Amino acid sequence: MKHIYIGANWKSNKTVEESLAWYEEFAALSASQPDIVKDRSVILCVPYTNLYPLKLAMEKTPAPVELGAQDVSPYPEGAYTGQISARMIHGLAAWVIIGHSERRKYFRETDEDLFRKVGQVKDAGMKVMYCISDPAMPVPPDTDIIAYEPVWAIGTGKTDSPENAAAAIAEIKKASGVQKALYGGSVTPDNVSGFVHAEPIDGVLIGGASLDPKKFVSLIQHASA
Ligand code: PGA
Repeated sequence: MKHIYIGANWKSNKTVEESLAWYEEFAALSASQPDIVKDRSVILCVPYTNLYPLKLAMEKTPAPVELGAQDVSPYPEGAYTGQISARMIHGLAAWVIIGHSERRKYFRETDEDLFRKVGQVKDAGMKVMYCISDPAMPVPPDTDIIAYEPVWAIGTGKTDSPENAAAAIAEIKKASGVQKALYGGSVTPDNVSGFVHAEPIDGVLIGGASLDPKKFVSLIQHASA
């Protein structure tokens, strides 16, 4: 059976209190169904402010998830006002999402910025989930997992077909040499199974459907290949 990766991207949502309430419910639901993470890895990518409280909550009540951040500074520690360096989140996050299309669009991040960020994450000993919205986009060689997310499918309720996504992902893996790749864009409990069944797709990256713990657990249950 293939191993499936399920990333949650909370984006710019949830206060500390809301993140802890989410986690409490998620931990209770997953404890009552221990099989839900068999052959699956769940990576919860949250706002910086929620990393430390969630780490403490996970120490108290363990649940089968790894924590991730959604961005990082392209620079090391130092005089970069407002930036969060990779060293600051090392120990809190195992993963960092880099290059999400919203970062490229609203914050004008360039390939050069993104390659620098990947360097910072890898130097700090964390893993990179690198997002691209087109198979032709460059991918840094140190990437651990690629997330292929067509821009028109993000948050719109319109998914790519599993066949198209599989073809794009096969092409991306071949061109980049990266062995693991996810599909993202309007994935829900109802449509996830088609994506994870497709041979080259190693899992999914979930935005909207990860914000409610019940919906997210249901999605994980339906994500079996
Ligand atoms: P969505 O977001 O699931 O809400 O479409 C996916 C993403 O942006 O990672």
